[in-house]
Amino acid sequence: MKNIVVFASGSGSNFQAIIDSIGKGEIEAHISGLIASRPGIGAIERAKSHNIPHYVLSGEPSDTSFTKVLISKLKAWNPDLIVLAGFLKKIPAEVTETYQNKIINIHPSLLPKYGGKGFYGIKVHKAVVDAGETESGCTVHYVNELYDKGDIIRQQRVTVSDDDTPETLAQKVLKEEHKLLPNVIAEILNNK
Ligand code: GRF
Repeated sequence: MKNIVVFASGSGSNFQAIIDSIGKGEIEAHISGLIASRPGIGAIERAKSHNIPHYVLSGEPSDTSFTKVLISKLKAWNPDLIVLAGFLKKIPAEVTETYQNKIINIHPSLLPKYGGKGFYGIKVHKAVVDAGETESGCTVHYVNELYDKGDIIRQQRVTVSDDDTPETLAQKVLKEEHKLLPNVIAEILNNK
């Protein structure tokens, strides 16, 4: 059985989508752990209710201890795939090097548009609406040491309507994220 480790910073609805997809037998894997960037987030509650071990990774990515602790947790949870599902801290280079081509991220825009530093959460959707874009979407990509710059695996488009606000657009995109992310994970893991 393949192991997945999920990293999250928020409510964890994408984490839930992965849990549900495994439950339905669509992804042939098991989630060996959750890395949370801070205490009290929704993703931790979801981990607890599904008996998935979690670890709160506090501190800054530039701290040596951050990388050390993270690497030791990952060694214990032995991931075949690491999934960043709304994780807001930078992944240290030592981790991206150790797990080359084994880390994926979901980003709520059609990368390379609206990606990179400062483009996260509602800020992404606000920028899309402010620019008068007629379409947006979400992207799953491999993670390397540069923010949102790894190879794109798959994208899903959504139409931006005239009356969309950043909040309504976020909802539309999130709905697609919940389908795209489990599909890509299944594609990567099921055939190996
Ligand atoms: C998603 O839009 C994800 O793409 C972004 O942060 C949001 C996380 O939502 N990076 P959730 O925690 O999975 O509910």
